Amino acid sequence: MTRREATVALLALTGCESKPKMQERRDLHSFSRPHEVRTKHLDLDLEASFDARTLKGSVTHTLVRTDPTAPLVLDTRDLTVQKVETALKPEGPYTQANFTLAAADPILGAALAVTLPADVTAVRVHYTTSPKASGLQWLDASQTAGKKRPFLYSQSQAIHARSWIPVQDTPGVRATYRARIRTPKDLIALMSARSDFRLADPKEPPSGDYSFRMPLAIPSYLIALAVGDLEFRYLSSRTGVWAEPSVVDSAAREFVDMERMMQAAEKLFGPYVWQRYDVLVLPPSFPYGGMENPLMTFATPTLLAGDKSLVAVVAHEMAHSWSGNLVTNATWSDFWLNEGFTTYCERRIQEEVYGAERAKMEEALGYQSLLEELKSHAPIDQVLHIDLKGRDPDDGATEIPYEKGALFLTHIEHVFGRETFDKWLRAYFANFQFQSITTAEFRSYLRNDLLAYDAARAAKIPLEEWLTKPGLPESAPKPSSDAFTAVEAMAKEWLARDASDAKAKTKDWNTQQWLHFLRALTDGADAAKMAQLDRAFGFTKSGNAEIEFQWLRMSIRHAYAPAMPRLEEFLVSVGRRKFVRPLFEEMLKTPDGRQRAEAIYAKARPGYHPITASTVDEMMAKKR
Ligand code: BES
Ligand code: ZN
Repeated sequence: MTRREATVALLALTGCESKPKMQERRDLHSFSRPHEVRTKHLDLDLEASFDARTLKGSVTHTLVRTDPTAPLVLDTRDLTVQKVETALKPEGPYTQANFTLAAADPILGAALAVTLPADVTAVRVHYTTSPKASGLQWLDASQTAGKKRPFLYSQSQAIHARSWIPVQDTPGVRATYRARIRTPKDLIALMSARSDFRLADPKEPPSGDYSFRMPLAIPSYLIALAVGDLEFRYLSSRTGVWAEPSVVDSAAREFVDMERMMQAAEKLFGPYVWQRYDVLVLPPSFPYGGMENPLMTFATPTLLAGDKSLVAVVAHEMAHSWSGNLVTNATWSDFWLNEGFTTYCERRIQEEVYGAERAKMEEALGYQSLLEELKSHAPIDQVLHIDLKGRDPDDGATEIPYEKGALFLTHIEHVFGRETFDKWLRAYFANFQFQSITTAEFRSYLRNDLLAYDAARAAKIPLEEWLTKPGLPESAPKPSSDAFTAVEAMAKEWLARDASDAKAKTKDWNTQQWLHFLRALTDGADAAKMAQLDRAFGFTKSGNAEIEFQWLRMSIRHAYAPAMPRLEEFLVSVGRRKFVRPLFEEMLKTPDGRQRAEAIYAKARPGYHPITASTVDEMMAKKR
């Protein structure tokens, strides 16, 4: 069956015709039909088998049925469904039910439809995940820091929860959950949920049997699980870090300001409702900088620079506790509501904790990335509310929703002033908490609750242009930083001559200044210039992943051979998509580079997460 036929067959099965009223909220990336039957609570019971590389067990859905004749339609991907049961009450008794698993769509996976007898309010699905589940990565011991025990972690955003749990996998549906997770005896399981244990005492042995509860309703993309040889360090009574034993102390040093960040965030955005805030530092194959799983941000170890210079990612994930986790995008086309707000909030936290100058620098770097990114996208993909029909929502995660979204809010802040804007922002979070909203709902709240009070100021914000037009409005802010002026002068000097005699002028530069320096040199440099720079500053050996990344990208562009062994090392160990994708992209621009890319990828691919691997697979196939 082709993908289209499968969809048509499914529509026939579920009696789906598009209802105009639902149109706007309809999530293109889910087969589920929550306006008919909706999950309000999930009970997971899973056993992690590292030998089989599977999660096996069941999920029980407690339902709200609006249409008493409609089936329950769940999203799945690569799941083996053994049995489906239904019950009148969640406690049971359960009886076997009929279900159909449709043919798989390459992007969306396969719809699981369960016929619901009258009065049934609970559905239990018994299933096993595939070893290649897109939302799970099973790591060999050799891919961990400790090299002794294997590791498992999930990454559900955007539509990967369905590869490890049959769910209504749309951010428009929120449910509470409980979970029981069985693991090998010596490993620790963590979830994006509350739990009773905290193994600060390393002598307390893990049990291999863990219980979690999430009493606040969250969308499926925030359900997360990790299993590994993990240790915990408190940073304050309500914050802490988890990591492998050999990493946990450097993680605790790097993220020591987390409690201060929390206090800044609460002051700015309102009370933190989730209970604790912990960060789990994963092995280096983790495909993102961070992932805002509630109570337990997942993070890449490439943040551990040793000098707190890359903690903006922690501020970012923490900010998602409000923008995203409290107020959630209804569909992936509304992604900018999650990420634009979060990027804005991240910089506000940075300003409180590390000062206005640091925040300005990060904002200016973000703005430069935005201008770059806008150049490489068609006009229809430059808008905030983007059309993702027929596309994987992970493809919508460009700089545009992040930086254009943040710039939009910055513009409103500038026009209305901080005090007024901050009040509105807190009201926005309070008003929409535990809801999933669309761009249209945001728009009307902004109009009615801010713009309507001051027509003169409102007139200065071209709202429709911000929301629906490509590029940036004329009146958009143009973030810059005074701290970059000296950097730009120095970059000019370097391009003109070997300026190593002026090295003293850079001794107080922070990471953001170095990044700006490298970006300013990128176009004008050549291999000889690269060698001079490397001699002066040792970029090839930089321990800072962001600086390293910029440098390696330049090294490819200018064929700076001495950095190539480091490039290979970096790409074989680090799976963070933000770094991996542009580095391969740069290599694929020339025939020599392609050869190098293929050789490196052959070594790197086995260690990559399915999400990173599929990104690079596509690039390698396309540009041939
Ligand atoms: N929620 C995102 C990560 C994400 C986005 C996962 C889309 C899957 C699909 C997370 O909050 C994020 O934005 N991470 C960024 C860091 C941030 C500071 C820009 C990242 O991973 O680079
Ligand atoms: Zn984010």
